[in-house]
Amino acid sequence: MSLKRTKIVDIFDASLVGQQVCVKGWVRTRRGNKNVQFVALNDGSTIKNIQVVVDLAKFSEEELKPITTGSSLCVEGLLVESQGKGQTCEIQAEKIEIYGTADPESYPLQKKGHTMEFLRDIAHLRPRTNTFGAVFRIRHNMAIAIHRFFHERGFFYFHTPIITASDCEGAGQMFQVTTMNLYDLKKDENGSIRYDSDFFGKQASLTVSGQLEGELAATALGAIYTFGPTFRAENSNTPRHLAEFWMIEPEVAFNDIIDNMDLAEDFIKYCVKWALDNCYDDVKFLNDMFDKELIERLEGVLKQDFVRLTYTEGIKILEDAVAGGHKFEFPVYWGVDLASEHERFLVEEHFKRPVILTDYPKEIKAFYMKQNEDGKTVRAMDVLFPKIGEIIGGSEREESYDKLVARIEELNIPMKDMWWYLETRKFGTVPHSGFGLGFERLLLFVTGMSNIRDVIPFPRTPNNAEF
Ligand code: 4AD
Ligand code: MG
Repeated sequence: MSLKRTKIVDIFDASLVGQQVCVKGWVRTRRGNKNVQFVALNDGSTIKNIQVVVDLAKFSEEELKPITTGSSLCVEGLLVESQGKGQTCEIQAEKIEIYGTADPESYPLQKKGHTMEFLRDIAHLRPRTNTFGAVFRIRHNMAIAIHRFFHERGFFYFHTPIITASDCEGAGQMFQVTTMNLYDLKKDENGSIRYDSDFFGKQASLTVSGQLEGELAATALGAIYTFGPTFRAENSNTPRHLAEFWMIEPEVAFNDIIDNMDLAEDFIKYCVKWALDNCYDDVKFLNDMFDKELIERLEGVLKQDFVRLTYTEGIKILEDAVAGGHKFEFPVYWGVDLASEHERFLVEEHFKRPVILTDYPKEIKAFYMKQNEDGKTVRAMDVLFPKIGEIIGGSEREESYDKLVARIEELNIPMKDMWWYLETRKFGTVPHSGFGLGFERLLLFVTGMSNIRDVIPFPRTPNNAEF
């Protein structure tokens, strides 16, 4: 085989018709009769397959026998306009080299439709399906969109540590990192574990958020964002929670909560528009296969301003709904941490568009949020989305050293772990704001998938760390 390979995504370019081409990929299907066989080949570069037409006058049955679903080939031949419906061009095979076979008895991805649950069990092979090919191409594109969005606006990509000794969200859902021998833990006279002999000389964990270090960066570089893996040992087996997920966290000096909301809204809209502009074939496939309202929902988000209201106003709407006979599984009252059903009610039924809720009770939010005058609420903001609920969580930050220390003491957060963070408020403190977008929650929205396990290649959830 001597010709240079063309990726299948590029083969549909009309200027190639009439030329000798070489393509390489995996067989999706093979069908035909004793005169001619049709092989649908896919190389992952696009959702589209190229049809390879194999004339049995040129190839023997024996040669074609190993060409079954999942086998890998190199094909050379003439690219011609297609006679058949549904494709623009096809290749008349002249040479076929088989790289690897896939025994039909054992290769699990045969033609028939598989359930999402089954495909999760074969996560090592599922990227070869149309659905997961589409999802993971979109995932890549969203990462590119995110970097472009921030780069175009002068934000710096800042790398925060994965291993940390502080619990940013204070929720105690951290995975410990240790090299200690768990069968022979050193303890002090009170029975507490002696971390001074551990690798870092203190208790260390996987990060739940890069925000605290992001704030250090924002109070130096002005505007930064992080984009990395985060870890939460929350034992919630829901379609929206992962133990390992990716988060994007912008942090901006001198931004107040209004600027923060504007940034969040622009950011999500930019990403959604990027998907429609750059991944249309994949989005359309998912729309047609799984979720007939997907494209409509994506376009809808671009057209509408997000509703902005306070938590207190949101609770009032929910209470009115309950009074009017609406049934929620969980109770609604001022002070409650909203459940996904409450968030979705506001978005899907009441306003019928994305909602940004602000000014939550301080008891249900993290220590670093700016305290409001009322003494009861903090300048938090959550962005709530159709089908997802919370997609973004953020706030204006408490920039007063004294107020922040008071809150840390109130919550019994060990101050000795916080000295470096507090110095941002001691030396040249400024108003600043930021938020975190869950990357997989964004992907749920953009792909229309209904389970978060299906938008990350290898999901990590309670009792599951296969692959
Ligand atoms: O609301 P969260 O916990 O906020 C923070 O971590 C802040 N430090 C962010 C900041 O202000 N810089 O998480 C932010 C987002 C959520 O809105 C959600 O989209 C996502 O992260 N998220 C999860 N995604 C998947 N699985 C989980 N277990 C998640 N927990 C949060
Ligand atoms: Mg949150």
